[in-house]
Amino acid sequence: MLRNLVFTSLAALALSVGAAHAAGDAAKGEKVFRKCKACHDAENEKNKVGPHLVGIIGRPAGTVDGFKYSDAMANSGITWDAETIDAYIAEPKTYVEGNRMAFPGLKKEEDRADVIAYLESLQ
Ligand code: HEC
Repeated sequence: MLRNLVFTSLAALALSVGAAHAAGDAAKGEKVFRKCKACHDAENEKNKVGPHLVGIIGRPAGTVDGFKYSDAMANSGITWDAETIDAYIAEPKTYVEGNRMAFPGLKKEEDRADVIAYLESLQ
């Protein structure tokens, strides 16, 4: 009985660790972020070609002071979280039609999960 209980909790723990891994690797994501760095600063509130990404998780789209967004982005009504960032950086052009991010997208799901884990690690 007790043995069963211990086994069940261990199995649950193993599952949740597995899930955390599937959610992305921040260290790998820092490398993937090199593709974004020319246009985005994620550590300082400094705008480049793109708006800074400090506090991006939970931030409503198009709201950094002093950055001139496209109307498409400013009016998108999106709030950035793991899911919406994933969809956007997979296909920047189609997810927010008419936005100005000149980036072809990250085709690999793993790269997207890693870069999102990296952004989350900075929060
Ligand atoms: C060539 C420059 C460029 C690259 C490379 C680029 N972006 Fe962008 N990004 C932009 C621009 C410009 C905007 C603003 C778009 C608009 O206003 O329509 C933007 C907007 C965003 C936004 C929305 C920000 C907000 O305040 O609403 C996110 C999130 C984002 N980019 C993430 C990324 C990530 C992650 C990468 C790398 C995988 C990346 N971008 C690569 C230029 C770039």
